[in-house]
Amino acid sequence: MPDIAFASADLPANGALVLLLTEAAAAAGLGAGAGLAAQADAACGGALTRAMAAAGFTGKKGQACTVLAPNEMLSRVVLIGLGKDSDHTPRGMEEAAGHAVTALARDPAAAIAADGMPPAHAAHAALGATLRAYRFDRYRTKEAADDKPKLQTLTMLTDDHAAAEAAWAPLQATAHGVILSRDLASEPPNVLTPTELAERCRPLADLGVEVEVLGPAELERIGMRALLAVAMGSAQEARVVILRWKGGQDGVKPVCFVGKGVTFDTGGISIKPAPGMEDMKWDMAGAAAAIGVMAALAGRKARCNAVGIVGLVENMPSGNAQRPGDVVRSLSGQTIEVQNTDAEGRLVLADLLWHAHDAFDPAITVDMATLTGAIIVALGHEHAGMFCNDDTLADRLLAAGKTTGETVWRMPLGDAYDKLIRSDIADMKNIGGRPGGAIIGAQFVQRFVRGPWAHLDIAGTAWATKDSATTPKGATAFGVRLLDRLVADNYEA
Ligand code: BES
Ligand code: MN
Ligand code: ZN
Repeated sequence: MPDIAFASADLPANGALVLLLTEAAAAAGLGAGAGLAAQADAACGGALTRAMAAAGFTGKKGQACTVLAPNEMLSRVVLIGLGKDSDHTPRGMEEAAGHAVTALARDPAAAIAADGMPPAHAAHAALGATLRAYRFDRYRTKEAADDKPKLQTLTMLTDDHAAAEAAWAPLQATAHGVILSRDLASEPPNVLTPTELAERCRPLADLGVEVEVLGPAELERIGMRALLAVAMGSAQEARVVILRWKGGQDGVKPVCFVGKGVTFDTGGISIKPAPGMEDMKWDMAGAAAAIGVMAALAGRKARCNAVGIVGLVENMPSGNAQRPGDVVRSLSGQTIEVQNTDAEGRLVLADLLWHAHDAFDPAITVDMATLTGAIIVALGHEHAGMFCNDDTLADRLLAAGKTTGETVWRMPLGDAYDKLIRSDIADMKNIGGRPGGAIIGAQFVQRFVRGPWAHLDIAGTAWATKDSATTPKGATAFGVRLLDRLVADNYEA
């Protein structure tokens, strides 16, 4: 990823220049203002204006027009459409800068003109560019130099670069949380076992986070038998990691983020079909998001108390694995008939959520889990499913989703669905039929909840199979920006 810099709004003497234009600015023409766009066009002898006309560039959202070597100094000018004036928001700047990064692949140095805009817009452009330039390439040993990204430094040109830099500081911490989360989720499952994932949480101590790692003996002692049942079939030991950030006043109830961390989900004895099973390395994305948001909060010294709890297990079939038909006693005391060992995430969340309330009495709890294929059938890849027992929390999550672009859609909960997980032999069973499968998963989880709670089913949004404005294909870190914003807007002193 490029280094980010901020400088005053002077025309760069070399490298690439990005101009972000609304439809109104494009219609008015580059010469209309006194800013960098007008200066650049003049320095290029009107080449940019001519290129706009030739390419039909109108400033439509996401539109891009590259002008190569428009004068003797600049390697290229990239025009990016910001859309309507109402699209010219911080999020709009992130997306535009994200698009710009893909057009800059060959330039070692580039600048984005953010003059005539609030300094925060420049900072959000830096965020969008950083997130879009992310790559996970630690296992590539043979990539040709020519195929590697060239961009080293990306400079935001603004009217008030000190203010822009100050706005960037917390966003940089958020970016770090996103990158950490993507790095974790991208690791292959032979490398990122539960023990390894727990070890990768330890460096959060450098940010001031208290890191506590619990192993099987401790989990047994606490009574997390539902979580441990999932891990039984694996040669890999289970771990639970508890992360604490104390940025608020003593005694103020924390916000709590809970993550499903199944480092690989074969389905267990209820084994999954082979095609696509490799995608189940992403089944720890909820945990990765919870870890990422804790890193973001601590990194920007958020004025709140926060707890992250992740349950790390591998779901494998073996002679030691749990069987369909097993009955386990969860930490809550409620018994569960495990009719399908592939509905394992809810078993993990059950014990984590019960423990979270016992140990931390949180103000709110949000769990994140790649819980059901059914949420993908319901919502596709554009929204995460949100299930919530508290309208205020639900509205806050919806709002944070809109500002960050990590959008959620509220789904129903209700007794009629809850009845579907009644068991003939135990307090409940862990499956309830295909119709409404994501809701049934949420109903199960709700039986282990006390207090205001939201469940985010991120099975459709945790990884992407195509690039988008601020997220290259692969791990998205969905949830990190959403919950970081939820906290910033509602739970900080
Ligand atoms: N990890 C899967 C859910 C999943 C599926 C995530 C596809 C991402 C993409 C989860 O553990 C699972 O297997 N769920 C089952 C539940 C069923 C057995 C009730 C499912 O969705 O099929
Ligand atoms: Mn499963
Ligand atoms: Zn799973």
